Amino acid sequence: MQEPQVTPDAADLQRLFAPLGAPASYTPAACERIVDDIAAIERLKRERDAVILAHNYQRPEIFQVADFVGDSLELAQKATTVDSRVIVFCGVHFMAETAKILNPARTVLLPDLRAGCSLADSIDADSLEERKADLRKLYPDLQVVCYVNTSAAVKAASDVCCTSANAARIVERLPTDNVLFVPDQNLARWVQESTKKNVIAWDGNCYVHHQITPEQIQKVRDHLPRVKILAHPECRKDVLDLADAVLSTSGMVRYARESEASEFLVVTECGMSDRLLLEVPDKRFYKSCKLCAYMKMITLGDTRLSLEEMRYPIELDEDVRAGAERSLRRMLELSA
Ligand code: 13P
Ligand code: SF4
Repeated sequence: MQEPQVTPDAADLQRLFAPLGAPASYTPAACERIVDDIAAIERLKRERDAVILAHNYQRPEIFQVADFVGDSLELAQKATTVDSRVIVFCGVHFMAETAKILNPARTVLLPDLRAGCSLADSIDADSLEERKADLRKLYPDLQVVCYVNTSAAVKAASDVCCTSANAARIVERLPTDNVLFVPDQNLARWVQESTKKNVIAWDGNCYVHHQITPEQIQKVRDHLPRVKILAHPECRKDVLDLADAVLSTSGMVRYARESEASEFLVVTECGMSDRLLLEVPDKRFYKSCKLCAYMKMITLGDTRLSLEEMRYPIELDEDVRAGAERSLRRMLELSA
C-alpha cells in the first residue's frame, strides 16, 4: 500500500504548467478537472493496490500521478520489480505488453487499447520468420535483434530484444557477425555506424521521427548557434548527422541536466520537451518535435476510468509470452 499523496490545487497546477507555454490547455477550469482526476486516481491506486508507470512522451498531467516515468528500457526494468497487484501503463501497447511479459502475475492495464505504434505495426512474426529463413541460407550465424517497439509474437521470433538505450551494446555483445535488425531502419543504420558487424535492416520506421527533416533542424541552428541538438536514433541519418548527441528519451534528461550548455533543441516526440521543461527549469528547451498520436491517446480521464473499471487488461498466449520473455531477459542480461 502506498502513502496517501497531497493533491495540488488548481492554482498550484497552473503555476506548475506555466513553463510549458500552453495556457489554452491549462485554463483554471481544465486545472480544476485535473485536480479532481488526480485525487480520484490517488484514492483508486490505494484501493486497487496499483502503481502507474508512464513513458516520457505522456501528457504532463499524467506525470503528476505516475509512480515512475522513464524510457522503454527503464520501464521494462521497473516492471520486473513491481510487487503491487496492478500496473496501469500510461504509454503504448507494446510497452504495456512488455510489462506483462516480464511480470505476468500482475494485472497490467492499458487505459486505451487504440494506443498502438506505427513502427511496431511495420512487422509481423510470419514475415520475420520468412526473412530469417532466407537470410540464414546466406548467413548461417545470423541472429535477430528486435527493437522493443514490436509485438510479443515478434519478440518471441527474435533472439534478443533491445531499446534505443542499449541497441549498439546488444549488437556488439552478440556472438555473431551477422545481425538482422528489426523493424526500425534508422536505428539499424545508426547501430551499423558503431560496429564492424553486418547489420541488415528491416524496412520500417516511426512516422513521428521519420518526418523530421535536416532543413528544419538547420533553420533552428542558424538562428541559435549555441543550441545543443539532442536527437532520438529513430530519426533519419541526415537529421542525426546534425545532432550533438543521439540519445534515448531518458538519455536526453541526463544529458540536459549534466551538460554545461543552457539551451537545447529536442528532436523527438513533443512530450519529451514537456518533461524537460518541468524538470530542468533553469535551462531552455526548444521543441523541434512532432506529436505521437498514439501516445497522446492516453488521457488522465481514461487513466481514472482504467482504475475504476479495471480496463483494459493485457492478455497473452503463454507460449508467446514465454518466448518474448526469453528475448527480453537476454536483453536485460546483455545490457547490464
Ligand atoms: P525510448 O526507449 O528512447 O523512450 O523510445 C521509445 C519510443 O517509442 C521512441 O519513439
Ligand atoms: Fe511508436 Fe513512433 Fe509513437 Fe514511438 S513515437 S510510440 S515509435 S509511433
